[in-house]
Amino acid sequence: MQKEAPILVTCFPRVSGILSEEIKSLGFNVISKDRTGVKLQGGWKDIMKLNLRLRSANRVLWEIASFKAKNPDELYKKVKEIKWHLLIRKNGYFTVQSYVKNDFIRDTRFANLKLKDGIADFYQETMGIRPDSGPDIDKTVIYLYWVNDDVSIYFDTSGESISKHGYRKNPWKAPMMESLAAATILQSNWDPEKGNFVNPMCGSGTLVIEAALMASGIPGSWHRRNFGFMHIIGYDPNLWISIRKSAKAGFRTPTQKFIATDISPKAVSIAQENAEVAGVANIIDFGTCDFLETRVPEGSGVVFLNPEYGERLGDEKKLTITYKSIGDFFKKKCAGYTGYVFTGNLNLAKVIGLKPARKYEFLNARIDSRLIQFDLYAGKKNRPLK
Ligand SMILES: C[S@@+](CC[C@H](N)C(=O)[O-])C[C@H]1O[C@@H](n2cnc3c(N)ncnc32)[C@H](O)[C@@H]1O
Repeated sequence: MQKEAPILVTCFPRVSGILSEEIKSLGFNVISKDRTGVKLQGGWKDIMKLNLRLRSANRVLWEIASFKAKNPDELYKKVKEIKWHLLIRKNGYFTVQSYVKNDFIRDTRFANLKLKDGIADFYQETMGIRPDSGPDIDKTVIYLYWVNDDVSIYFDTSGESISKHGYRKNPWKAPMMESLAAATILQSNWDPEKGNFVNPMCGSGTLVIEAALMASGIPGSWHRRNFGFMHIIGYDPNLWISIRKSAKAGFRTPTQKFIATDISPKAVSIAQENAEVAGVANIIDFGTCDFLETRVPEGSGVVFLNPEYGERLGDEKKLTITYKSIGDFFKKKCAGYTGYVFTGNLNLAKVIGLKPARKYEFLNARIDSRLIQFDLYAGKKNRPLK
């Protein structure tokens, strides 16, 4: 692979603003962003660092070529002109994934097939041997982006999406995707250097684990062992080791408190197991209780809740009581903190009964969702809704 090329980091819709800030905070120059991605320019070191460190991203795509194609045959012809022997090993394995939106292709599988044939025929005709191909995403992943007649061909240097951070062995019910959970925390006003993080209704522990990783300086994908970039010609394992080493130099021991509770003992034990895998179990105080009984320590920080919201679990009537009690809990037990509720049920959000300070829009598994912020002042300053 050439030294420098355009990079497109993708994310869930509505997350690109947060992702762009995250990328800048790692020292990169952002060129542009749209609804589901952030563009920059970079080489091997950058690809490795982005894959390892980003928390709110889904994929790191690295451009191989871009051109115009008005039909599948043109795509095939241009693909065959690329010097694939400098990119994929002849005895390697690749798969093709794509996003296609134009009038020439009705079934994206046909576009994928044309791209695959272009690579295979380049090899056959120039070397008489070709890499294997199939559906597995744990080796070289080629990504085709074809909108109207604009084609970009990328390496998906993540392979399996980095929206999963590799520590969740047990999902429990309705878990948040790790990159989305991280994005909501990055959106909040939580200070990872000193703010307490209280997470009642923790479920499988995604939110508290993401927060504990941030406070410990542990990169988002520290626990991942395989990435797409490891299967591209030019991959240098020593460079990867040095990128991991410099990330490790930033590990720290947090001094603030992390508290996670759930009413279900099974959820708490799953959250504990996941936190063990993530390497942060020792700094989280777990407990089984109704959220109203959660211990909120002296000091300040955030109280972060992701209650059920009737779409997938629970039923709305019962949940009305729960959401009402969240307002009471915030008022009575969380003074001095900032309260956050992440929910996909905008009607239930209204019954919390406190005036939100801010609302942030997210999409969670295609459900229009909100992260709602409540500033919880001590004494009488809390603003009731009515
Ligand atoms: C939507 S899930 C949270 C998922 C979590 N964010 C994750 O990523 O795994 C909601 C959780 O609230 C818990 N829960 C429901 N009612 C509760 C209550 N009254 N007190 C404490 N936890 C409760 C459920 O057991 C469930 O684990």
